[in-house]
Amino acid sequence: MTSNSTSHAADSTVSERVEGPESVDSNAAPLNQIIKDPLPLSSNTGGPMMPTTVATGDLQSQDNIIADHQFTAQSEDGHISVDIHDDSDSAVGDVDSRPGSTMSIRSSIYDYVEENGRTYHRFKEGQYIMPNDEIEQNRLDMQHKLCLMTLNGKLHLAPIKKDPHHVLDIGTGTGIWAIDFATKYPSASVIGSDLSPIQPDFLPPNCTFEVEDVEDEWVYRQKFDYIHGRLMVTCFKGEEGTRGVFAQAFNALAPGGYFEMQDGEFPMTSDDGTLADTALWKWNLLMMEGGAKSGRPWTRTRMYKAWMIEAGFEDVREELMIWPINTWPRDPHLKKLGLWFREDMLEALSSTKAMLTRVHGWSSDDADMFLSQVRQDYMNRGIHAYTFFHVVYGRKPE
Ligand SMILES: C[S@@+](CC[C@H](N)C(=O)[O-])C[C@H]1O[C@@H](n2cnc3c(N)ncnc32)[C@H](O)[C@@H]1O
Repeated sequence: MTSNSTSHAADSTVSERVEGPESVDSNAAPLNQIIKDPLPLSSNTGGPMMPTTVATGDLQSQDNIIADHQFTAQSEDGHISVDIHDDSDSAVGDVDSRPGSTMSIRSSIYDYVEENGRTYHRFKEGQYIMPNDEIEQNRLDMQHKLCLMTLNGKLHLAPIKKDPHHVLDIGTGTGIWAIDFATKYPSASVIGSDLSPIQPDFLPPNCTFEVEDVEDEWVYRQKFDYIHGRLMVTCFKGEEGTRGVFAQAFNALAPGGYFEMQDGEFPMTSDDGTLADTALWKWNLLMMEGGAKSGRPWTRTRMYKAWMIEAGFEDVREELMIWPINTWPRDPHLKKLGLWFREDMLEALSSTKAMLTRVHGWSSDDADMFLSQVRQDYMNRGIHAYTFFHVVYGRKPE
């Protein structure tokens, strides 16, 4: 375990410093309405609405994928309403213009692996497919803001106690969540762990970071009141890797402590077939195939609830939110989430180049050409695609 940071007082939460398409409105109206029935999912190859099974159907049983709550901006028929106007929407400003780049420069003092002009983690080299350079760090900070917006400003949904003592954030990335959590809960001693030492030096006094592989054996002496992991779907080795992490989280928690995972889902979907035969759909397939090929499948989010129950957690809840791929929905809140998710994905695309070159063996030029087609699809409001954002949490029995 390597500690890479000392503590410094922070004068504001990091999320306040992140710029992006629009500032977070944590007072925004609740994310539409909770509906009782699961959202109808379409087959990803398009066509009429299908029942609530998923495209990756052989990966999970229906029981495991039904969330306790699902959110959508529903129309009369239960589908997400499309904004049929091509022009901008005042709810989110100029929705089809791209904002400028984000955040301040964070200098790296560590030795990283370089490939295709990007840098990657050196510790456990090659294990995680995405880069760790400034472009990726800015994306992660923007994604943090998207998550906050999705959860109406909340850092967690688990009903943790007001004065948690020990808190762990696995795969902390830039540490932005951990820093915000430490700022919000001064009682907590927060540890963020990651393969990459990309966290800032200026920290609240109750926040530290460690370079660690969360799939290795955990050696913490203290028991945690709360363990959090976010956007880790691409990270762990097969099903067993993820289940192993869940089991370690269970063991590392104090009785009554909570474990929470927040993650996006692959593949994306559309209710009206507009995702079918697009470069974006092909990208979904290539990412899933590449993830499976490299032993770290991207398709496990729907199993989190079942795996938490299997690990021994009680009162396991799952809540589903929607991230549209761009500003196509009529609902202003979904439109705003779409604006941010599109930015996130447009930045992420270049980071997925390594999957095409390293795993699929494409040339750099072919990968660039393909990714530019995918980029155009993200900008195309005629493609009514979206993904689910899952929040799953459970309690260790007393
Ligand atoms: C998509 S980022 C999410 C970062 C952060 N959780 C957030 O929501 O902003 C995934 C992070 O997990 C880290 N990661 C991947 N595999 C890991 C592992 N086995 N152990 C620790 N960290 C890992 C990566 O280095 C990366 O920073």
